[in-house]
Order: sequence, then C-alpha cells, then structure tokens
Amino acid sequence: MSKYLFIQSSVRGADSASGQLAAHLKKQLGAVSGNEILERDLGSNPLPVLDAALLGTLFTPADALNPAQKTQAALVSTLIEELKAADTVVLSAGMYNFAAPVQLKTWFDYVLQAGRTFHYTATGPEGLVKGKRAILLVATGGVYSEGPAAAADFMVPHLKQLLAFVGITDVSVIRAEGMALGNDAAKAGLEKALAEIETL
Ligand SMILES: Cc1cc2nc3c(=O)[nH]c(=O)nc-3n(C[C@H](O)[C@H](O)[C@H](O)COP(=O)(O)O)c2cc1C
Repeated sequence: MSKYLFIQSSVRGADSASGQLAAHLKKQLGAVSGNEILERDLGSNPLPVLDAALLGTLFTPADALNPAQKTQAALVSTLIEELKAADTVVLSAGMYNFAAPVQLKTWFDYVLQAGRTFHYTATGPEGLVKGKRAILLVATGGVYSEGPAAAADFMVPHLKQLLAFVGITDVSVIRAEGMALGNDAAKAGLEKALAEIETL
C-alpha cells in the first residue's frame, strides 16, 4: 500500500493546467489497488497566510495556548501529520510571477517547523521527513526547462529547496510548458507532460 498526498495550488479551478496534470496522475494511481490518496486543494481552500497571530501560536507552549491559538496549532499539526504519513508528496503548481502560488508557499510556512520536520544540529539544519518521494507537477506560460528563461525559474528550485530542507531529496519534475505561447504550443506542452506522467 502506498500513500499519496496531493497538494494542489492553482487558483484557476477547472482551467488549471497543473490541476489537469494532478488529475491525470490521480486517475492512474487510483486504478492501482491499495493506493491511498489524500488531497488538499489550496486554490479553492487556501490556508490563512503566515501573520503575527500564527507566528505567536507557533512560539507559544502547548499548555499556554488560548482557544484561537489551539485551533491554529491543531491545523499546523494536521498538515504536518499529513506530510509525515505520506509515502509520496505530489505538489501541483502553476508559475505565477516566476514563483509558485502564494498558497503553496503558505503550506510550507505551516509544515516547516523546527523540532518537527527539521532540526538544527551542530553542523547545520537536518530534515526529519525522510524516506519519501516528491513529484512536482508544474505549468508555466513560458519555457524554463532550457533556454534563456531557465535562469528565471524561481519556482522549481525553490520548491526543491523547501522539500530538501525537511529531508525530501528524491524529487521528480514534470513540466507543462508554453501554456501562454498559443494554442498549439499549449496543447503540445500539456500532452507531453501528460505522457511523461505515465512513465513515472
Ligand atoms: C498571475 C499570473 C502570473 C503568471 N506569471 C507567469 C510567469 O511569471 N511566467 C510564466 O511563464 N507564466 C506565468 N503565468 C502563466 C501561468 O504559469 C500559466 O497560465 C500556467 O498554466 C498556470 O498554471 P495553472 O494553469 O495550473 O494555474 C502567469 C499566470 C498568471 C495567472
């Protein structure tokens, strides 16, 4: 049995290209008996962004939390438990202004917690979420896998860094590229990515 955690972050609903990639992968995984899929769609159900109140909760001992802080702390714990329970984490994201959607960055703001998903050692930080695989399903208007725009891809390297920080270094990347380069390019980019998903 294998557990998959899907974190979707496009805000484009049914029009989302990265969402179509996620749907395709989910359909394939769902056809294999024993696979368990948990999904969080942050595009339609965003997490509250990190603010002073949430930071206060994160730095307050459990026995001193007020009722509102307890609710926030429970959400943080749930998200961390979902991550720890998964064998494979699938992040789907469209590139917005050269980076991942803020909804996905916010999810990392919740799950990157010292002492729970990473800790500091004498030689530096160490991830505590080990033995897992991640799959990034990304959609971009332009082309970043090669060529002049590659240096402007602040999405995939950032997501890989965040995953590595908690200990996830086995990362596969599937890119639907050229979504803004006309219908033919978008169709070809999407079809290529969908075909790649079948080889995962
Ligand atoms: C607000 C916004 C910002 C975008 N910024 C970029 C960008 O910086 N680079 C790029 O190649 N495409 C950009 N795009 C195009 C998206 O990456 C493209 O539409 C992709 O399909 C979005 O993924 P989604 O369909 O899963 O939401 C942007 C789109 C939107 C809506």
